[in-house]
This record gives sequence, C-alpha cells and structure tokens, in this order.
Amino acid sequence: MSLTVENVSKIYDKTPALEGVNFKLEYGIYGLLGPNGAGKTTLMRIIADLLVPSTGRVLFNGQEISSLGPAFREKLGYLPQDFGVYPNFTAEQFLLYIARLKGLSKFEARRRTDELLELVGLSDIKRERLGGFSGGQRQRVGIAQALLNDPQILIMDEPTAGLDPEERIRFRRILSDLSQNKTVLLSTHIVSDIEAVANEVILLKKGRVLEIGKPAELLVLLEGKVWTVTLSIDEGTVLAKQYPCSNTVHFEGKSTLRLISEQQPHPAAQPITPNMEDMYLYFFR
Ligand SMILES: Nc1ncnc2c1ncn2[C@@H]1O[C@H](COP(=O)(O)OP(=O)(O)O)[C@@H](O)[C@H]1O
Ligand SMILES: [Mg+2]
Repeated sequence: MSLTVENVSKIYDKTPALEGVNFKLEYGIYGLLGPNGAGKTTLMRIIADLLVPSTGRVLFNGQEISSLGPAFREKLGYLPQDFGVYPNFTAEQFLLYIARLKGLSKFEARRRTDELLELVGLSDIKRERLGGFSGGQRQRVGIAQALLNDPQILIMDEPTAGLDPEERIRFRRILSDLSQNKTVLLSTHIVSDIEAVANEVILLKKGRVLEIGKPAELLVLLEGKVWTVTLSIDEGTVLAKQYPCSNTVHFEGKSTLRLISEQQPHPAAQPITPNMEDMYLYFFR
C-alpha cells in the first residue's frame, strides 16, 4: 500500500495554500502538524479526492486517484474538520444511513454499525439522539462513520479538536486498535496528540513541508538548541524577550526559563533534552 503526493500545489484566487508538497505514505499513523492556515485541510481534501490540486497529483499504489475515482474512494475513510451530525438521528440511525449511502448492503450496514458502535464505546447510547451528545461522543460517531467501509486509508482532519483529556486518551486507544494494516493520516495543531500516536510526523508551514520524520528523529534536530537557565525575575524577563521561550517557572523570586537558541543564550544556561513543544516552537514560531 502506498499513497504518494507528488509536487502538489493549490492556489485559491491567487493566494497559494500549498506549494510543491511531496511525500509518500505507507502503513502506520502519520501526523500532519501545523498551525492554523498552514494548509492541512486543503492537503487532506486533495488526498481524499475532494479537491483538485492546481499542480501535481496523488497516486494510490502508483495510479492517479482522479482516474481511479470510486475504486479509490471505496478504500478511503474521511472525517472532515467540520463534521456535522443530524441532531434528530440516533447514533445507530445515523450510521445505518451513512452505511447505505456508502453502498453497503442492508446486512453489512447492520453488522458494521453494531461492530463500530462497540469499537468507539457508544453501544449503550446508540438509541439516543445525536443532538444531546457531547463533543467527544459526536467525534466518536464521526470516527465510526469514517470506518464503515473498512477503509485502508483513514484521513481525519483535527479529530481531537474540542475533546477533553479523557476523551483524547480514549481516542488514542481507538486509533492504536484500528491502525494495523491501515494508513492513517491525522492533522492537528496539538503537539501532545502527535507525540502520543504518530509513527511519522509531517511538519507543514505556510503550505510547504518543512520536515518529515519519526518524533525521535525530529527531536534530534533540536539537540543543543534547547536551554534552561535560572535568573532573577528581571533578568529572566529580558532574556525571554530575546529568545523563543517554551516555558517559564517563577519560584522564590527567581525565574527558570526554557529557551530555544542556536548558541548558549546566557553564560549560566545549561543544555536540556528537547521535547515536542520545543520542536513546535522551533519550527513554527
Ligand atoms: N475555499 C477557500 N478559498 C480561499 N482560500 C482558502 C480556502 N480554503 C482555505 N483557504 C486559505 O488557504 C490557507 C490554508 O487553509 P487550510 O487548508 O484550511 O489550513 P489549515 O487546515 O492548516 O488551517 C489559509 O490561508 C486559508 O485562508
Ligand atoms: Mg484545517
């Protein structure tokens, strides 16, 4: 299984949203990380064959997705960023309905709906109306609908937006349960999501790919560039204005800063092991 993005650009009325994007996805969970406006949704819609790129193409096992058409879409599950639900449907009715739209037989629709309600932990409230569901419960319905056709490729646009910490943990568990033999691409601007689930991270900034790598490989790029220093509060305030600062702790009249800098930012600064938040600051500040 491979999904190749080849020289993809997208221009919306003269403004480029994507420029010369290239990468190849195989099995595993890929995290697309970038701030708002980076082009994540645009890229995912192009990969899902919902939007035509201005240049370049997307290949599924070497064949252009636009020419594969339905043969590609039946292998695909997509959770849009603005996943809307029908408030008067119950979870069960909604999934049965989407399953039929996706062309599953009545029997298969029933079987998959029951299976997925179980997987996402909504079986006991499947007869309740979606209008009364919490954000996390709705999001789980969204994940379930994307999985109805047992897709090989699962694309989820900001699936953890609006989830509370407990719901995030649950989401990660669902994801690791279902990601075997699948390609999962999920976008987020939340660093901890990536850290917890992604095998590979794609950093997208202003429509361009900055880096692609495993979380540990990206952290290596920051070695020797993250520093900690404890100073008086006044000195600390000055230094925090000169360098990107990923954390400040005030304690007993002193401040301890965590700074990103190519060189030692202060004679008292000590190098420290980089984390993913430092990485985000380093690439996206
Ligand atoms: N339909 C559209 N028409 C014009 N500009 C758009 C459209 N969709 C997105 N954009 C612009 O393209 C850029 C990337 O947007 P988007 O792909 O939504 O980024 P992200 O999902 O990372 O926040 C932004 O500057 C956005 O304003
Ligand atoms: Mg988006």
